Amino acid sequence: MDFQQIFNAAPDAIAQAPGRVNLLGEHTDYNDGFVLPTAIPQQTIVSLGLSPNAQHHFYSAELEEQIDFDSSDPIPEGFARYIMGCIRMVEQMGHPVPPLNLFITSSVPLGSGLSSSAALEVAVLRGLRSLLHLDLDDVQIAKLGQQAEIQYAGVQCGIMDQMASSLAEPGYLLFLDTRSLTRQVLPLPENSEILVIDSGIPRTLATSGYNQRRAECEKASAILGIKALRDVADLSDLNQLPEPLHQRAKHVVTENFRVLEASKGVSAERFGALMNASHISLRDDYEVSIAGLDHLVEILQSTPGVWGARLTGAGFGGACVALVAAGKAGAIGQTVLQQYNQPNPIGKILVGCVNTA
Ligand code: GLA
Repeated sequence: MDFQQIFNAAPDAIAQAPGRVNLLGEHTDYNDGFVLPTAIPQQTIVSLGLSPNAQHHFYSAELEEQIDFDSSDPIPEGFARYIMGCIRMVEQMGHPVPPLNLFITSSVPLGSGLSSSAALEVAVLRGLRSLLHLDLDDVQIAKLGQQAEIQYAGVQCGIMDQMASSLAEPGYLLFLDTRSLTRQVLPLPENSEILVIDSGIPRTLATSGYNQRRAECEKASAILGIKALRDVADLSDLNQLPEPLHQRAKHVVTENFRVLEASKGVSAERFGALMNASHISLRDDYEVSIAGLDHLVEILQSTPGVWGARLTGAGFGGACVALVAAGKAGAIGQTVLQQYNQPNPIGKILVGCVNTA
């Protein structure tokens, strides 16, 4: 299926954006901290044109679903919320958006923690920029995408996913200060590449658990009298916090240290050790891992050629990321899956072999 077949016309604009995988810096972005994501090769492609009538018509090729509704109707549930969120954000900037025909196709895996929603938002906003000749730069697009997600999808997310989708390139790390939005493109450590494996476990509690963690972090910074946990000067300052706020804040502070160290350009071995430490911190202090993710991470970490591994994204299910020896991602992925997929074949390789060109 394509735009022409669904809408019987050629699109007026086509835009695309990638998913992302985060190597280090988890749950730090809404604490004004540091992150190190990269774009994955999989993309979401949005084709769009003007609707011939007063309705929006959105079609998702992956879901094989079409949604038709009036712009003034309540927004339907499902993928239309992300699109309408972006449209509303553009309208709030003072640019009216006419009723649209919009066709989406995507190779970004859905629901695995690789930011299919950010890829959709950034692709839609790029499409609107091109269709309506909007003067928007890539950082503004990321910010609008984040607001669409917060206000229309109900996730109190940080800026990492949309910044990564809008600005990162596969094979390179985007070192981002989420407070100032200053950033640097860094190569992967020498002799390394990225492997991403889906645990096959859906991220069922992700939204409620995520919003709860964010609220805990805000409470911790209020008690500490600082703007955000990014501003903690010394780990011992956290001793005044009650549990679980103390352990949540400890994760955020130590995770920021790990990203800052990794961004200085460390060996693959050291980078891997920082990823392993990140997983322990997410599991024990932040409590966003689950048994299946721990199991997959353990198999990855004990497989020769793996520098380090951890859950990636918000947690509660979804994918794990590993840094592995260059040229080995495919073979390592197969070895890991042979073990992980016993007795149920639920895991699969999502990204393999991406390295710095
Ligand atoms: C989700 C959010 C991001 C970030 C990660 C956790 O992907 O959208 O903003 O907080 O979780 O690091």
